[in-house]
Amino acid sequence: MAEPNNKELPEVIVLGIPWFLKFYGQQFSQNFKLLKPWESSLPLEQFITTHAQSVKAMLCSGGTRVTPTFLSQFPSLRVIVTTSAGLNHMDLSECRRLGISVANAGTIFSEDVADCAVGLLIDVLRKITAADGFVRNGLWPMNVVYPLSSKVGGRKVGLVGLGSIGLKVAKRLEAFGCIISYQSRKKKPVPYPFYPDVHQLATKCDVLVICCALTDQTRHLINKEVLLALGKEGIIINIARGPIINETELVQCLVQGEIAGAGLDVFENEPNVPEELLSLDNVVLSPHVAYLTEESFQDLYELMSGNLEAFFFNKPLLSPVLDD
Ligand SMILES: *[C@@H]1O[C@H](CO)[C@@H](O)[C@H](O)[C@H]1NC(C)=O
Repeated sequence: MAEPNNKELPEVIVLGIPWFLKFYGQQFSQNFKLLKPWESSLPLEQFITTHAQSVKAMLCSGGTRVTPTFLSQFPSLRVIVTTSAGLNHMDLSECRRLGISVANAGTIFSEDVADCAVGLLIDVLRKITAADGFVRNGLWPMNVVYPLSSKVGGRKVGLVGLGSIGLKVAKRLEAFGCIISYQSRKKKPVPYPFYPDVHQLATKCDVLVICCALTDQTRHLINKEVLLALGKEGIIINIARGPIINETELVQCLVQGEIAGAGLDVFENEPNVPEELLSLDNVVLSPHVAYLTEESFQDLYELMSGNLEAFFFNKPLLSPVLDD
């Protein structure tokens, strides 16, 4: 196969090493000249100054902090395509001010994340991971009494946030016979009871599933008062962003038995997980992978390259967050 002529291809600087490039990097390289700092011998800052003046397009991930200082290094930048659905890592108003368009992963992860939320809830209630440990540790033949688990059906589940993920969690859990209610900024046209206040929602529910975006308004929204309102039988599922919960207070409540359990795919200080959680078998831990499926990566590749193509052909972005 002939070597593609890289010079003809539009340049895209890639920051934050989006995971899916490991799988789709080659396909991407057929249409774009990817500037990858991790393959360069230059230190990152020097790499950026070498390419920053001219590069118009950036591909980044949720770990790339797009601040005003960061953006000031890229005077020609016109589009940022991020592989994340959440936008808490980006200063969107600064992007708007600078006339930089932004595209994100939109809703392509919603089904997979909703599945995982339900999986974590069923796991915590029915002690699936704990039961797996019980068998693996050889306790079954030893007549150790296995604790009773809790029924999924009839559980009162409060969704914190009812966007694309929240709606899918609701639909799934309804099929299990759960009773759904929700909190969000605005009442939505859905048949579920709405509570404007998360503390009130917690008082009415056995389970909280965190499905909202991380914003200034939702940072540490779930604190000790909310957890105490949820109560000793209460369960927290978080597939959204770690800092929506005050993790120190969550750990305290779990250790002291103020709530019954948790299923966590996200943490405040990833990849660090509080030590205390590792020994609790009423807590199911997952390394921020709710969105990672083969199928969603294929969709992500198509969406990301489609957005970049649209940009270079002066067409509307496929999943715009801001269109200047
Ligand atoms: C989180 O909880 C701890 C312990 O109660 C408290 O000291 C801290 O201020 C809380 N953090 C935030 C940001 O509210």
